[in-house]
Amino acid sequence: MSVVAHGIRTLGVLGSGQMGLGIAYVSALRAKVPVLLHDRSSVQIQKGLELMDKLLEKDVAKGKIKAEEAKEARDRITVVPPVQGLSGLRDADMVIEAVSESLPLKQAIFSRLAAELPSDTILASNTSSISITKIAASTIPEGQSSASKEGLQSPARVVGLHFFNPVPVMKLVELIAAIQTSQETMDRAKAFAIACGKEVTSSQDVPGFVSNALLMPFINEAIMCLEKGVATRDDIDKTLKLGMNHPMGPLQLADFIGLDTCLAIQQTLYNGTGDSKYRPSVLLERMVDAQWLGKKSGKGFYDYSD
Ligand code: 3HC
Repeated sequence: MSVVAHGIRTLGVLGSGQMGLGIAYVSALRAKVPVLLHDRSSVQIQKGLELMDKLLEKDVAKGKIKAEEAKEARDRITVVPPVQGLSGLRDADMVIEAVSESLPLKQAIFSRLAAELPSDTILASNTSSISITKIAASTIPEGQSSASKEGLQSPARVVGLHFFNPVPVMKLVELIAAIQTSQETMDRAKAFAIACGKEVTSSQDVPGFVSNALLMPFINEAIMCLEKGVATRDDIDKTLKLGMNHPMGPLQLADFIGLDTCLAIQQTLYNGTGDSKYRPSVLLERMVDAQWLGKKSGKGFYDYSD
């Protein structure tokens, strides 16, 4: 079997939240590629870099990596400050977008990436559920034919590369082809995920792909059990942890993923399929309305204020 070279000499990562930061971390440490890290918020970049330092220190303290390797990985990260904008990523051979789960936001970003970066830069999205085909279509400038394969802004270079949280720990990356994605884009994106130390599965471009089409109804059912008073929070989580050997119960996992992210994915599933089995629970909606977003906001199904 021939091994495809990913050919990524420099990676761009857009978004320095928990997913973007994790992707930057495994790319710099495992794939050993220079990473251009960009976020529109300098506060978020700073937070991300602090987390990166902590993760590297922890791995050194545990003897998983040498201090030298940690330093080399850290030196591979270059911050592209907000003021430089997306054009600061133009030296990247592939950009992985990891911003919030919003179609209009991703469409706006991909349209600008296609306009501002060289025509052969692979454009990957870490979306959890949004159609890669719709994201890819946003790279076609108004007035240009969607049939055009050559030249700038070709959607054939757009692909879904879905990492899991925490990225340094979870072994999987889900690879999703839009109907426009070229085989070369798929092969190179897959080769890059493998270089990051991940195993890769493929999914069709359906709402939620395989992972979240299965996970989110499970989380939603758990929230509905709580809402209906079927069992307490602790008993719901304990049932799944001790009865099924899940590392976290579904309510704790929802907090860990972020309740806003869970809701956004569930809305994509519900709106994309029209199937009532995906309708988000009212309790989840209310908690997001209250800005109880889980671990990241200090409050969700559990309290994280300390
Ligand atoms: N970042 C990096 N490393 C982390 C981490 C983080 N945020 N949290 C924990 N770890 C590491 C620890 O350092 C430790 O590493 P070691 O083996 O080298 O010592 C290892 O993970 C185990 O951590 P702990 O001993 O502290 O705690 P646990 O054994 O409870 O493991 C966990 C923590 C790995 C998060 C585990 O609870 C787990 O696997 N939970 C389920 C996570 C999951 O399902 N993720 C997928 C979410 S869905 C998703 O991301 C898709 C999206 O589209 C929604």
